[in-house]
Amino acid sequence: MSFSERAIPRLGVNIDHVATIRNARGGPHPDPVRAARVAVQAGADGVTAHLREDRRHIGDEDIERLLKYIEAPLNLEMAATEEMLAIALRHAPHACCIVPEKRKELTTEGGLDVAGGHNHLAPFVGQLGARGIRVSLFIDPDEVQIAGAAKLGAAVVELHTGTYCDRALGGDEKAAEAEVERLAYAAALAERYGLEVHAGHGLSFDTVGAIAAIPQVTELNIGHFLIGEAIFGGLDSAVKRMLALITQARSAAAGQQMA
Ligand code: PXP
Repeated sequence: MSFSERAIPRLGVNIDHVATIRNARGGPHPDPVRAARVAVQAGADGVTAHLREDRRHIGDEDIERLLKYIEAPLNLEMAATEEMLAIALRHAPHACCIVPEKRKELTTEGGLDVAGGHNHLAPFVGQLGARGIRVSLFIDPDEVQIAGAAKLGAAVVELHTGTYCDRALGGDEKAAEAEVERLAYAAALAERYGLEVHAGHGLSFDTVGAIAAIPQVTELNIGHFLIGEAIFGGLDSAVKRMLALITQARSAAAGQQMA
């Protein structure tokens, strides 16, 4: 497929941190479902929410309300536990992204070891897939993990962009570029294995372009930065600007390839 035939990557907005702010006071405000509605009205293609074991942000009721009131596809991020599997099978969201989860981490640190964890993960991928849910595995851009994801029969891999974003934020341009190359190589390899390629974690207005320009990337999942930015200019405007940057980067990359 030529670059220009590829669609602009979809944007999934992760609304977890609206719930983080709400939970700081224990009341209903701000409501993550309202944020999801605003994001979708601004042009987001989907909504992402991570139901953590400790329910530190999104809660069970949020998932129920997101499915009831938001028509855009829901990507439920979850750890590979029996509790989460039962919840996912009960609700059957559009997609489930399986992520590693540690109780004490501030955010998802590193990708899932799908190669080493094959036997544990296989029943999760199998049961979610059989329920018609698109299964995504959140992995580092690593050949062994991509081969492991393909072996598990997942439909999608989401490549962890956290290392790239940390390097870019730290001002180490060379190291950041090297990580973009690693992500681009991994995306091409994943596509050769027949996997759909998503990417996310830590992305901002400054870092989204390099990832949106990777031709195989079909979806970007972005949360913390957009919710933070919404404090200053509103969620509607933050989502619209992110969408414009994604389109701009993809169109520029396609144009460069054709020139
Ligand atoms: N993708 C996955 C799999 C994640 O776990 C997260 C964080 O919940 C994100 C994307 C979004 O990351 P961020 O909030 O840093 O944009």
